[in-house]
Amino acid sequence: MLFQIKSYLKFLWHSKNEHAVHSPFVFDLVTKCFYDKKSKPEYQILKEYRNSLLENKNSIEVTDFGAGSKVFKNNARSIAKIAKTAGISSKRAELLFRIVNYFQPDPSVSEQAEQSILEIGTSLGLATSALFLGNPKAKITTLEGCPNTMAIAKNQFQLFNFNTVNPIVTEFSNYLKNYQLSIVNYQLIYFDGNHQKQATLDYFELLLPTITNETLWIFDDIHWSSEMEAAWEIIKTHPKVTVTIDTFQWGLVFFRKEQRKEHFIIRT
Ligand SMILES: C[S@@+](CC[C@H](N)C(=O)[O-])C[C@H]1O[C@@H](n2cnc3c(N)ncnc32)[C@H](O)[C@@H]1O
Repeated sequence: MLFQIKSYLKFLWHSKNEHAVHSPFVFDLVTKCFYDKKSKPEYQILKEYRNSLLENKNSIEVTDFGAGSKVFKNNARSIAKIAKTAGISSKRAELLFRIVNYFQPDPSVSEQAEQSILEIGTSLGLATSALFLGNPKAKITTLEGCPNTMAIAKNQFQLFNFNTVNPIVTEFSNYLKNYQLSIVNYQLIYFDGNHQKQATLDYFELLLPTITNETLWIFDDIHWSSEMEAAWEIIKTHPKVTVTIDTFQWGLVFFRKEQRKEHFIIRT
């Protein structure tokens, strides 16, 4: 906790708003997407999805993935509590919705390929709901190791008719090592599972064959621990990475070749 407070104070000291951003690409993203305060009809669906979980009084046996992704204990948890503690906040879900929506291919250009999105860490699907609503045409693959948690998420996806979501029960590295990643191009990956330095860097390397010039990767909790901060610093220096944006909660990574390497720290 003390680490996060210190880290947040450092963030506040270094962070900027749009006035300090000279890159037109990042300036547009900050002003038209991050700081878009207008209400959207989709926010109501995000709210309904969350409320239906918060009102769920049932409990499930959770398979907990701990240090080094080793399953270390089984325990009963209420669905409402998982929704409250493990999922994306309402404000972040709205921002995630806006980001996906902002970067979706132009729907008026019919020959543009549909988007593929990967989420690493489904939990009950709170962030998945934002990914889906941001671009209902995108193919979304979402990975979760706990079968009982995923069963609830799957039920939610059916209930809300999120029919482009493909939920997969798997340990993350098993999936990423065995799946032929070089044949897919994910335009967006949301990393929100295993918040450990080595695991984060392993997923980063394993997923590099899926990038295109338009790809955006979002890493959750980059200041959660000194380990995660160290992973973030390594990611920033990778030669394929050009622009990064640190919003404290998230680290956004772009691979756009036309941008010069530049690291932004932006308040959202
Ligand atoms: C923080 S939660 C995801 C929250 C979700 N993205 C949301 O916003 O609602 C992380 C999830 O990743 C799963 N997880 C963690 N490490 C894993 C691993 N190595 N393999 C598979 N699942 C894992 C946990 O079971 C947990 O449900």
